[in-house]
Amino acid sequence: MAKIKTIFECQACGFQSPKWLGKCTNCGTWDSMVELSLEEIKIAQKSHNSSNSKIKAKPITEIEKEEINRFSSGSRELDLVLGGGVVEGSLILIGGSPGIGKSTLLLKVAGNIAKQKKNVLYVSGEESTGQIKLRANRLKANYDNLYLLPEINLENIIEEINKNSYSLIVIDSIQTLYSNETPSAPGSVTQVRNITFELMRVAKSLNIAIFIIGHITKEGSIAGPRILEHMVDTVLYFEGDANLEIRLLRSFKNRFGSTNEVGIFEMTKSGLVDAKTISNRFFNKSKLASGSALSIMMEGSRPIIIEIQALVTESYSHPKRSSSGFDNNRLNMLLALLEKKLDLPLSTYDVFINVSEGIRVSEPSIDLAVIASILSSYRDRELSSKTIFLGEVSLTGEIREVPSLMQRLKEAETQGFQKAIVPTAPIEEVDIKCYVVNEVSKIVEWM
Ligand SMILES: Nc1ncnc2c1ncn2[C@@H]1O[C@H](COP(=O)(O)OP(=O)(O)OP(=O)(O)O)[C@@H](O)[C@H]1O
Ligand SMILES: [Mg+2]
Repeated sequence: MAKIKTIFECQACGFQSPKWLGKCTNCGTWDSMVELSLEEIKIAQKSHNSSNSKIKAKPITEIEKEEINRFSSGSRELDLVLGGGVVEGSLILIGGSPGIGKSTLLLKVAGNIAKQKKNVLYVSGEESTGQIKLRANRLKANYDNLYLLPEINLENIIEEINKNSYSLIVIDSIQTLYSNETPSAPGSVTQVRNITFELMRVAKSLNIAIFIIGHITKEGSIAGPRILEHMVDTVLYFEGDANLEIRLLRSFKNRFGSTNEVGIFEMTKSGLVDAKTISNRFFNKSKLASGSALSIMMEGSRPIIIEIQALVTESYSHPKRSSSGFDNNRLNMLLALLEKKLDLPLSTYDVFINVSEGIRVSEPSIDLAVIASILSSYRDRELSSKTIFLGEVSLTGEIREVPSLMQRLKEAETQGFQKAIVPTAPIEEVDIKCYVVNEVSKIVEWM
């Protein structure tokens, strides 16, 4: 049998095959297979095969627990997403679409830490020092302890790290770096994997927190191997509509905290700043038009008031159903339910749903508000801007309870709402009239 001399590796997921493939059989990406030489294969495997015979397994009871030391990044929202601050010696990956504000946020954080007289290294493979300086002026991140290094060679970067005692390092971005030890091009699976492995070693051995910026692909995942996400301690993604100032920083993985919290930022002239009072950010009108209903969604532990808009019009052909910010299948389900339980002839109507301000809602707690908005548009009757609708609708037409009901109602109370249509009675007292509706057909009584 002929010996395998080369191997083909998918640049999207790291899948290896002895033959070239037009489409990766593992992740389905087209034209992503790159040929690796025997030398490259050996290097790729080297990190995995290293062994140290002196290490022996120990009973867990004999192991002393390690202290987790955190420090503040100077940004309340980033600290929240990280689970209470940056953990020393951790490797944090931040991804997001181009221009969303990754460099802006991390340069500001670098400035915040440097302000406390701690050394920070900002490595940029994408921008010149002059460009970064310009941004630093805008963000007010000009401090003596912030060091800039325009470098793409990993060995040179590590040499610099060893020269000075740094508390924080920012790598902008992982896809631009290359290591001398790996012959493939920057951004390739082997490069990204080996560089991340090296950075992990640096972070752990020198106890330095390292932020890595990663570009994302068209599909929204971090470009390069998926393995990158497995290797690092924390994975954060920036989300947001390019037309809006609000940016959300979501945690997808966190070895040192929960992944429920979301950081909310605002893009301003002086960079990304922590958004203040976000609960009424997306709704502050005093009057509603017909077709609008209000609800409260939870973003992590924070309630946010949202406006659901519906447009129901007679259809002259095949009825259209379209939603933005809300699941289309769920909309179809709710319409079928209205047709069955309320005898509405919705199959002859087009129905469009929109959650205002480009917000995406994935929790079903706003089902009742969606139904209210559809009914409001269908009957062309306005709803009160002082009423909120909360409740998940089941296939049988039952209204189910929603998580964190009390927290949502408390927020509604603070925002001056007077009436709440809820699936269950509140367990604590709130200064807002609550009406329990447990069946979808009963909703009409409150419209
Ligand atoms: N003078 C300015 N005033 C206000 N906003 C600005 C200004 N200059 C840049 N911005 C904003 O900053 C954004 C760029 O942010 P940044 O460079 O941090 O993005 P990035 O995520 O690092 O992008 P890339 O992936 O291209 O590196 C722009 O989209 C713009 O909205
Ligand atoms: Mg950038």
